[in-house]
Order: sequence, then C-alpha cells, then structure tokens
Amino acid sequence: MRIYLIGFMGAGKSYWGPRLAQMAGLRFYDLDLAIEESRGQSIDQLFALQGEESFRVIEKEVLHLLTETHEHFVMACGGGTPCFLNNLEYMKRSGKVVWINPTNEVLTRRLSKERDERPLLQSVAESELAGFIQKKMADRRLYYEQAHLRFDQETIDLTAVLKAIQHV
Ligand code: S3P
Repeated sequence: MRIYLIGFMGAGKSYWGPRLAQMAGLRFYDLDLAIEESRGQSIDQLFALQGEESFRVIEKEVLHLLTETHEHFVMACGGGTPCFLNNLEYMKRSGKVVWINPTNEVLTRRLSKERDERPLLQSVAESELAGFIQKKMADRRLYYEQAHLRFDQETIDLTAVLKAIQHV
C-alpha cells in the first residue's frame, strides 16, 4: 500500500509520516529529502539556482521514481506536490492520499519559526505571513480537497488514520 501525506507547509507531514509508517509497518519517504539526495543540492539551492518551475519537474520525476520502484510506503510530500503537473491524479491512482489540514492559525504559528528553511517564505515578512498563508491556501485548497481522506486536527490519531484508509 502506498500512502501519500499532503498538506500545506508546516502541516506536520514530516512529523506524522514516520510515525504512521512505523505503526503500519511501512517504509517512510520524505519527498523533499529524496529530491535533495537525488540532486545533491538542498531544496533552497534548487529553488535559487534553477527556479520553481525546474524544481517542480524534478519533484515530479522523483515522485514517479519512488512510486514506480516501491509498492509499499508512507510518503510525506512537499506542500506544493499535489498542485503541479498532475501529481495529485497520479498519486490517487497509485495509492491513498491523506490531507493533513491544521488551521491557518496553527500553520502561521509553526511557520513563523521556520521561515528561513522554506524558499517560498523567505521573502515574506513576519507581518505578512498570515495573509500569505491564507491566500496560498485558498489557491491550493482545490487540490488538497481531492484527497481520499482529510484530517483537520492538530494532533492526529494514527490508529484512526490507518482504519479509515482501509475503507477508501
Ligand atoms: C513547498 C513546500 C516544501 C518544499 C518546497 C516547496 C511548497 O515542502 O517542497 O519548499 O510549494 O509548499 P514542505 O511542505 O515539506 O515544507
């Protein structure tokens, strides 16, 4: 079984992913890390040197490569992964897609501490962060909403996630 965790930056995909994988007895992949390993460059460097458009092409390539070579895993995707290049459709055909969706307030609180690590946030001033999240979430929601399952809580009940996955 392939489980893809999607959601906005700061939603907790990389936090919950390994825990869910352990509980399900599956391998865990972090797509951002896999991209960094495959290119020998950080996400930051890829954005800075090649731009977002090229990053999205690489992201798609690594998503497909991991999916084609592994049948069972939990993968934490990047916040933008489902929103580009038909990735969402591809993931839905290949496995189960789970949206982790804490409130924008929670995202703002978390991301205000982690702005430097995220290329999309580097030019966003602290005072503009909440507005930025609101606007980007409004664009991305269309994609996120198509997930098989959605969890709105800040703390995820992993047993409930696994149980729900069996039924979608
Ligand atoms: C992005 C989210 C990041 C990373 C890249 C772009 C986005 O992943 O893929 O910086 O477009 O939302 P996280 O969601 O793990 O921060």
